Amino acid sequence: MTAMKPSVLVTRAIFPDVIDRLAQYFEVDSNQDDVVLDAAALKGRLAGKAGVLANAADKIDAGVVAGLPALRAVCNMAVGYNNLDIPALTAAGIVATNTPDVLTETTADFGWALLMATARRVTESEHYLRAGKWERWSYDMLVGMDVYGSSLGILGMGRIGQALARRAAGFGMQVLYHNRSRLPADTERALNARYVSKAELLQQSDHLVLVLPYSPESHHAIGAAELALMKPTATLINLARGGIVDDGALAAALRDRRIFAAGLDVFEGEPRVHPDLLTVPNVVLTPHIASASEKTRRAMANLAADNLIAALDAGPQSGKPSSVINPEVMAHRR
Ligand code: GLV
Repeated sequence: MTAMKPSVLVTRAIFPDVIDRLAQYFEVDSNQDDVVLDAAALKGRLAGKAGVLANAADKIDAGVVAGLPALRAVCNMAVGYNNLDIPALTAAGIVATNTPDVLTETTADFGWALLMATARRVTESEHYLRAGKWERWSYDMLVGMDVYGSSLGILGMGRIGQALARRAAGFGMQVLYHNRSRLPADTERALNARYVSKAELLQQSDHLVLVLPYSPESHHAIGAAELALMKPTATLINLARGGIVDDGALAAALRDRRIFAAGLDVFEGEPRVHPDLLTVPNVVLTPHIASASEKTRRAMANLAADNLIAALDAGPQSGKPSSVINPEVMAHRR
């Protein structure tokens, strides 16, 4: 008699070959129709499941996992995991994993794309051209801010922040950063990055990129007071999570030209976007696609699947998922 395979849920559509790989180890309840599951639907689909491959939009908290004793692993296909209530998962003995490293360079590339597009008004220029407004050359048409030779501020100097700093070297930029903890001196030297207070970062950056994790502490880390400290010529890029910026306050600052422009890949309450952001011209808006290259999305899906297989004690890395957020749960199991 063959042992019954454990059941897992994949909450959203992903690469079919990743589903096939999971199916070697598990009964897979997949959602290839890509229906968005609300909390009640998610909880219903998790009944009897040993694990779940989740997405950054799936909110998995104490309420969702209550009364699901079979659930042992929640594997996020994202590096950020503010959608998971880690203390609640830990208390329930559920291992949580994320997908760091595999998306670092792709996300930093996109941060650079947003920075360039914002400073040099790329999308605004395209809208202008498509609208048939381009009639002649003029010396002050769509002039922007220089990137080369300017100062780059990085708030949150983790893997992605450091990848941005490495790119800045090619643009002759001065790199300033602020982080909960200061980097070791040799890392600062290698990145040519100078640690400053948050106020100094706001005051001195020509371009400020946000790459810090979202948490209650970072909620509205950039609001009206912080925007007021920035240069009127500065740009702000949010590559991290909605909620770190007070989007209403940002829209007002952009409208009143208190800062030059912003580039946003993430939004408070996304996929909804603050209506005022849609009415100001000096903002570049993209729908949370910083990690969206074919290669990186595949790497993220495969890493999340590997984590799920290992966390549920199957496959070559059995018992050893590579990116565990709450290792105390794994330690407890042994
Ligand atoms: C995407 O936002 C991620 O956290 O990976």
